[in-house]
Amino acid sequence: MRNESLVTCINSRRSIRKYSEKVISGPEINEILKAAMQAPSAVNRQPWHFVVIKNRELLRKIADIHPNASFVVSASHSILVCGDEKLEHDKGYSILDCSAATQNMLLAAHALGIGACWIGIHPREKRKRAFSELFELPDHVKPIALVSLGYPAEEKKPAERFSPNRIHFDTWGNQ
Ligand SMILES: Cc1cc2nc3c(=O)[nH]c(=O)nc-3n(C[C@H](O)[C@H](O)[C@H](O)COP(=O)(O)O)c2cc1C
Repeated sequence: MRNESLVTCINSRRSIRKYSEKVISGPEINEILKAAMQAPSAVNRQPWHFVVIKNRELLRKIADIHPNASFVVSASHSILVCGDEKLEHDKGYSILDCSAATQNMLLAAHALGIGACWIGIHPREKRKRAFSELFELPDHVKPIALVSLGYPAEEKKPAERFSPNRIHFDTWGNQ
């Protein structure tokens, strides 16, 4: 099945950090979560949990515990992507699985006309501890990434990143 609009969506996605006051509807948040859970995962373990945050006080507290996330205070919602170490295939796999889920969320949001930004938590131990505390995560559930979501109040042109010098044919260095 060819789906060129998906490729267009991938190529035009950018991080959006300025949001309008319009609130994202429940069905749209569910669409984004559904896309997250469609991600591939090692041995199909799906070792993820998602904390949907729309409480303004909590969004403000995130800005206090993360040095590069002040813009979450104006997001309609943010979603904390967490990896469950009891569900993962083997040690470390939940990071990869949750990263795939996070990217799906960014793309689904973009396809719905919603702006999103990946806010890094893993592998910074201090951030992991702060998010675990704030959201009262059990020990076996680790915060991996936060996705801020809101209707865009900024426009960004697609970025051109295709680099032929990063491509190697058959053996390293054969470009
Ligand atoms: C693992 C990871 C961590 C990131 N952490 C942050 C962050 O803490 N704050 C932020 O504003 N953007 C963060 N970003 C977004 C990147 O800055 C952004 O994707 C990159 O500059 C490329 O720009 P683009 O998303 O507009 O294409 C992160 C992205 C990734 C993949």
